[in-house]
Amino acid sequence: MFFDDDEDLGEEGGESRLVQSTKGEYDYEENVLRPKTLEAYVGQSKVKENLKVYMNAAKKRGEVLEHVLLYGAPGLGKTTLAHIIAGEMGGQLKLTSAPAIERSGDLAAILTNLNDGDVLFIDEVHRLNHSVEEILYSAMEDYALDIIVGKGPSARNIRFTLKKFTLIGATTRAGMISNPLRDRFGIICRLEMYTPEELKEIVTRSAKMLQIEIEPDAAGEISRRSRGTPRIANRLLKRVRDFSTMNGNSAVTLKDARYALSKMEVDELGLDEVDRALLRAMIEKFDGKPVGLDTLAAAINEDAGTIEDVYEPYLLQLGFIARTPRGRVILRGGYEHLGIKMTEKQQRQASIFDE
Ligand SMILES: Nc1ncnc2c1ncn2[C@@H]1O[C@H](COP(=O)(O)OP(=O)(O)OP(=O)(O)O)[C@@H](O)[C@H]1O
Ligand SMILES: [Mg+2]
Repeated sequence: MFFDDDEDLGEEGGESRLVQSTKGEYDYEENVLRPKTLEAYVGQSKVKENLKVYMNAAKKRGEVLEHVLLYGAPGLGKTTLAHIIAGEMGGQLKLTSAPAIERSGDLAAILTNLNDGDVLFIDEVHRLNHSVEEILYSAMEDYALDIIVGKGPSARNIRFTLKKFTLIGATTRAGMISNPLRDRFGIICRLEMYTPEELKEIVTRSAKMLQIEIEPDAAGEISRRSRGTPRIANRLLKRVRDFSTMNGNSAVTLKDARYALSKMEVDELGLDEVDRALLRAMIEKFDGKPVGLDTLAAAINEDAGTIEDVYEPYLLQLGFIARTPRGRVILRGGYEHLGIKMTEKQQRQASIFDE
């Protein structure tokens, strides 16, 4: 039921899209590149500062850390942070994910095997099924496991005491967590997209670890095209290195980086074919009018959940699209990026939502 990190390829396991933020076949070196301490964890300063206080305070009182909910888009460093927290608190980290916990008995087995101070990491925690989630409530609140034995009038409730553990839940969809579950997390951290400067630091650090020589300009170019996401930055670094090697260069130059990225069809902002197809569909098929997620998904033959998790966050961040009560709508920046001139009607449409 526990899995090794390396095998956690998620649903998009076989995916070959380079700027995909979810974990895929390219990310086999991910564990090597994970920073091991809070100091080495780049960016997310607010989250780090707060966590440091909570962890030190808990240690000082000799208590375990309260349960932590980490949320943010794929590849922003949730799993990495869970490793760091467990390391700093001196507990064993057990990794699992909600889809892997099918029955409440599965969760009970996991919980009863935890020791004092252990950290249980549940990925995609918004996908727990209801009966499993209910078991979690008393486990989180009272470190107790309530199990009903038998059926009908002879049914009895048996309570097991659990060791004091910390649950870390990770999710890309904070909105999909039920209120009772959310309320039981004492610490809630939202991970944000990284700035190009922070990503440059990550690329430079990763290059050193992978023994890739890279010129600062080239690292900067990769950072700007990584959609604010460390996982993508690391992935592009490795692919750019391949092009550089094939060109017989020992160090990755800016020219190498630009050439490689254009070959991979990753544009100046890190958008790829699918992003552009999505924007184009919003203009050409829906004439810039608000369109529902499912309709849009069908139009470009993509999964609605993938659009929501993977494509949309960055397009929203760029201000190319907006989420409105009537659906997704493309804004001026989206037209400009594709080099498509807006009709008057489209201008009116976009300006309603463009501030
Ligand atoms: N703050 C950071 N500093 C340096 N490297 C980072 C940072 N955050 C993430 N990374 C790198 O990005 C990779 C992906 O991070 P991680 O696996 O923690 O993302 P995640 O949020 O758990 O993604 P998912 O939602 O797909 O599970 C890691 O291998 C790590 O090397
Ligand atoms: Mg993860």
